[in-house]
Amino acid sequence: MAEEKRLWWKEAVIYQIYPRSFQDSNGDGIGDLAGITSRLPYLKELGVDVIWLSPVYKSPNDDNGYDISDYRDIMTEFGTMADFDKMLQTAHELGLKIVMDLVVNHTSDEHPWFIESRSSKDSPLRDFYIWKDPKNGKAPNNWESCFSGSAWEFDEKTGQYYLHLFSKKQPDLNWENPKVRDEVFDMMTWWCEKGIDGFRMDVISMISKDQRFPDGEPTVGDLGFYGPYVYNGPRVHEFLQEMNRRVLSKYDLLTVGEAAGVTVDEAKKYANAEGTELGMVFHFEHVEAIPGALAGKWTDKKPHLPELRATLNKWQLELEGKAWNSLYWDNHDQPRAVSRFGNDAPKWRVLSAKMLATCLHMMKGTPYIYQGEEFGMTNMHFATIEDCDDIQARNAYQQYVVEEKLVDGPTMLRYFDEMSRDNARTPVQWDDSANAGFTTGKPWFTVNPNYKEINAKAAMADPESVYHYYKKLIALRHSLPIIPYGVFEPLLLDSESIYAYKRHLDGQTLTVACNFTDKEVACDLFEGLSGEEIISNYKEHKAGVLQPYEARVVLS
Ligand code: GLC
Ligand code: CA
Repeated sequence: MAEEKRLWWKEAVIYQIYPRSFQDSNGDGIGDLAGITSRLPYLKELGVDVIWLSPVYKSPNDDNGYDISDYRDIMTEFGTMADFDKMLQTAHELGLKIVMDLVVNHTSDEHPWFIESRSSKDSPLRDFYIWKDPKNGKAPNNWESCFSGSAWEFDEKTGQYYLHLFSKKQPDLNWENPKVRDEVFDMMTWWCEKGIDGFRMDVISMISKDQRFPDGEPTVGDLGFYGPYVYNGPRVHEFLQEMNRRVLSKYDLLTVGEAAGVTVDEAKKYANAEGTELGMVFHFEHVEAIPGALAGKWTDKKPHLPELRATLNKWQLELEGKAWNSLYWDNHDQPRAVSRFGNDAPKWRVLSAKMLATCLHMMKGTPYIYQGEEFGMTNMHFATIEDCDDIQARNAYQQYVVEEKLVDGPTMLRYFDEMSRDNARTPVQWDDSANAGFTTGKPWFTVNPNYKEINAKAAMADPESVYHYYKKLIALRHSLPIIPYGVFEPLLLDSESIYAYKRHLDGQTLTVACNFTDKEVACDLFEGLSGEEIISNYKEHKAGVLQPYEARVVLS
């Protein structure tokens, strides 16, 4: 097998910041750039290498910054470009890199391009977006927005529909138009010249639409799923290769594409080892809904280990030597890792959070930590729809509970407790003071009431905490090349409870076993195995078994 190319971003650990909920500095209840700057020493201490910032650009905040009205300016609530420059400089002084979120599948409807584009059919920017005539007096096709309802919005003024795969306030850019690509690539170059260290590319697998715009397969009601005509579309690789030639290849960047609908075969193209497109992609297969979930997302069922393991193993094995994996349990669009894949009951929270971290951080690929995950933040509880903020949840409630009556309110709220993006968006719990130390004002979104027990300060003071365990995992990756580069070998494929695997590099072997249940289970992987235990969430082991949520890693 060819020697894996060694690159800094393959050895790095990435930390995602959702700025709105990270740290407020001026008491307005909204996280901001100065708040991030003040917490950089915390991230340095944790040991991560790179920060991925969810969008900080000018935005009317219909989708919390994923609707951008000016790519070269900062969201008013987050501060100024001077605050950004200071943050970047401070990060670089500390040896931390900053990766920007690049949201270029769509803009805000308040972006000057869209304002101009919608002004008339003859506008020179008309073709910057996707405009279509009505079909039989209705939308051009049945595509459903990711945030419920039709993906087409009728514009009275010019009598045409525009496409928005997300909210109405997020019109899709027309990547077929070379002028759109010029603008996007110029803007990216501008940020690269500023000295940023990479891009996380929002829904980048969706930028090339099938130009025939065929109807999708109906899912809920008579609206259709656009996936086959949008995900990994006809020209997506061509566009990314052009982006690579014109921008990415000129700098030393970390690039990761958020790739809804990506398969392993597609990932081998996006993240090919020759580096002609992106460094890596986020796939969704392990976080994707459980069969039977409403609209492919809403459920209160827990993932089942054998399927979860089969999915992750497939990605490990298939990408070996061909493309690079990115590893994550959660992010700003997913519920909290410990609540979803582990067990957030007080008895098991710490053990299961450590177990999950072990399982992920010992795999091959670049691991991502979502803010608060490193000390075990959990899901929130939503008692009423008024408690919810996320546009996806609110629209889904309106459609499936109020209009279509497919489920009742309490059921939907139970689904939200399990799956809503709001779970990840409650403010970071820094300490046990008012508002968890997030703000001195009124927080923009409810602080999880469990902050008195679960907070960064308490975790830092406790050597047995989830925080110190993450710190150790990060340090191990930096000291042992087998962790980033070892070849993956799956084990115990019949087990209902254990996720186990080996990694191999230069005559060394790492043996990893994780019990995903609250029961003791038989496991003889470590019997007679000589070597050094490099990390475990239990101080003592029992012969022939893994204890509840036990994780062990031995280097031999
Ligand atoms: C991505 C983002 C998500 C956003 C959507 C539209 O999936 O991660 O937060 O709502 O794209 O930009
Ligand atoms: Ca603020």
